[in-house]
Amino acid sequence: MSNKISIRGGKPLKGEIHISGAKNAALAIIPAAALVKGVCRLENIPNIVDVMIQLDIIRGFGADVRFLNPTTVEIDCTHIGCQHPDYDLMRRLRASYYFIGAMLGRVHKAEVAMPGGCNFGGVRPIDLHMKGFEALGAEVSIKEGGFVCAEARDGLSGKNIFLDVVSVGATMNIMLAAVMAEGQTVIENAAKEPHIVDLANFLNSMGADVMGAGTDIIKIRGVKELHGGTYSIIPDQIEAGTYMAAVTATGGELLIKNIIPRHLECIGVKLEEMGAEIEYFDDSVRVSRYGELHRTNIKTLPYPGFPTDMQPQLAVALCMADGASVITEGVWEARYLYVDELAKMGAAIHVDGKVAVVDGVGKLTGAPVKATDLRAGAAMVIAGLAATGETVIDGIVNIERGYEDIVGKLRAVGADISYVTDNDPVTLKAV
Ligand code: EPZ
Repeated sequence: MSNKISIRGGKPLKGEIHISGAKNAALAIIPAAALVKGVCRLENIPNIVDVMIQLDIIRGFGADVRFLNPTTVEIDCTHIGCQHPDYDLMRRLRASYYFIGAMLGRVHKAEVAMPGGCNFGGVRPIDLHMKGFEALGAEVSIKEGGFVCAEARDGLSGKNIFLDVVSVGATMNIMLAAVMAEGQTVIENAAKEPHIVDLANFLNSMGADVMGAGTDIIKIRGVKELHGGTYSIIPDQIEAGTYMAAVTATGGELLIKNIIPRHLECIGVKLEEMGAEIEYFDDSVRVSRYGELHRTNIKTLPYPGFPTDMQPQLAVALCMADGASVITEGVWEARYLYVDELAKMGAAIHVDGKVAVVDGVGKLTGAPVKATDLRAGAAMVIAGLAATGETVIDGIVNIERGYEDIVGKLRAVGADISYVTDNDPVTLKAV
């Protein structure tokens, strides 16, 4: 069983990479299928661990799930709600909490294990989700054993809900509960990420009435029921951004295909400040870097700001730049667990709360490191690609949760990257 990735770095990347469907859209749209008394066909589904878990969970609620090909799945929720999924399965990822909104919306009752998922250093509350469900008329409680229980004995009725904090998860979860509630629901201070718009477009294609997704005010008029249909999931903004950051760090040139340009502009502007050259086409982007890498400052913000899910990846590229850069994590309480791993490769990053100062050491050297969470794991891959010598990354299940075939995609553009097992000869010296 391959449980590590080995990379011999220091080579430029060159070639074409095809981007898969968006993880954070798929993880909300799969639970949303539970609202439909019929069959939903989802296209451009990414083949990643978290999506497979989400599909196992909806099977656990009584759905029939059938893959037509590796990226197209049919989910039949005609008989949903007659059974309960394995709680341990639900604890494996944070996005299982979308089944609270979906099951509340469908059968006015939900019992879901408190979410698990990436622990990158800070708390990840769900108080805004629960506030939204209560506003719609549900009683919400945390039951012994760590379950969130929600029930709307008198059904759900639309309300105006103001989110104190811009929250992707709360915006989507409230949307799920509201699509068949009585009357109109208005979500104010809503998140505007591309996957929010994708969820709203999916729901509307199944007969819902959601307006304003992508702005900070989303209006949802409750409908009686949703019908089945076919929907294609948008390309993954963060997967594309990760490969843009990789070629910026290593040098070379990539044509990244199956993307939506406007989703990448918030990432591209920062990479251009660092010295990358970026050219957008209808559904692809060419990123090249041949000259010096320059320092810059980054503050992560809700969309359309610089995405927090790109912060670790950019930190690696900034290690290779000239001069010191400042990163401010504006979304999460803390997101710097990866810094200790990068230090093993020669990085010099000083963290103080939400702020990290990245010294442009100009080079990294290979070492044995760990993928402490999903995006930290992606950052370790970029560090291995940019470093001289061999890097061996442990804990790669964290990477496979969100990146489809990352080894294959990078090998196809010239990276010396492969899976290794524990008993493979490794030339690394402990550091
Ligand atoms: C989603 O997490 C993504 N996960 C995260 O990506 C991403 O980092 C995050 O949005 C921000 O873009 C999925 O979509 C599965 P939030 P989510 O609710 O919904 C606070 C990845 O790498 N908050 O937008 O959990 C929270 O503490 C993952 O793909 C509350 O206070 O994030 C944070 O400070 C990692 N109360 C801020 O809001 C709540 O009830 C944003 O969190 C909910 C959130």
